[in-house]
Amino acid sequence: MTETTENTQLDDEAAKSIASLHFDIVREGHALRNLSKRQVSRVQFGGGKYVVKSYRINPFRRIFNCMPFNTDYANLLGGLTPPLRANFAYRFNCQVTIVDDAGEMDLFHLFAHFPLPSNFIDIYSNAGKLLAKIHAKNIFHADTKPPNFVINSNLPSMPPILIIDCDKIRKYHAIPMEKKLFNLAQFIACSPSKIDSNLQLYPNAMKAFFDGYAQEGKLTRGALDNMVGDAVACALGNRKIEVRMPPAMKKGLSASMMK
Ligand SMILES: Nc1ncnc2c1ncn2[C@@H]1O[C@H](COP(=O)(O)OP(=O)(O)O)[C@@H](O)[C@H]1O
Ligand SMILES: [Mg+2]
Repeated sequence: MTETTENTQLDDEAAKSIASLHFDIVREGHALRNLSKRQVSRVQFGGGKYVVKSYRINPFRRIFNCMPFNTDYANLLGGLTPPLRANFAYRFNCQVTIVDDAGEMDLFHLFAHFPLPSNFIDIYSNAGKLLAKIHAKNIFHADTKPPNFVINSNLPSMPPILIIDCDKIRKYHAIPMEKKLFNLAQFIACSPSKIDSNLQLYPNAMKAFFDGYAQEGKLTRGALDNMVGDAVACALGNRKIEVRMPPAMKKGLSASMMK
């Protein structure tokens, strides 16, 4: 497998062969996901390991060029997500994307393993840093739950934790606070609460995640506590996230509204 972090494209023939292996895997019932609208599988080809995602799309969408996902992510998140190797129309109603396979373990399934790897704190801390880096790029990733943070064991030139499932990301001029809180809430809400053997250690992992987020984002302890408080409330109570403003800003706002 190529070790470059750049999005070097597979040639057409290799990409088609990988897609066809993917559909064989789906037919044989060995896919990672097999939903009516999308399928995901791991494919090995020519010494490389890939994850292939196929989407059923309405051919009209193609005609009007309105695709159900965003493939710009590879550029926007360059270096933080496994490289995109191919993205192409397949048969009359499918779109296929091929990315490098970063490895089989993610932050959700990690907690099903007993004993936990001794570096689990580092893993969660790096995941928090990764989310802060995404936010620093003013990018909102619509699905930042733990299974979408993959532990990188295949791509030596890339960071230890990578974000996947980037079909729905949005670039902002300045990412709003409520979007950051939404991402934190997603991470909290999808905690592995039913995995009992390691559960007593989960709070330590979450703390490492938040500390990593604060460290990378240069947040003060108070700012982090406020964000985590809001995100937890949102994750638990399903309440709409309200954005806290520093009192000085509130004052400034009401003063400008009086004018
Ligand atoms: N680049 C990748 N490297 C390693 N595993 C991946 C990668 N992409 C996807 N996966 C695995 O496939 C699963 C489904 O892929 P994902 O893109 O998250 O699709 P979904 O939209 O169904 O959640 C992930 O939970 C992960 O286990
Ligand atoms: Mg996913």
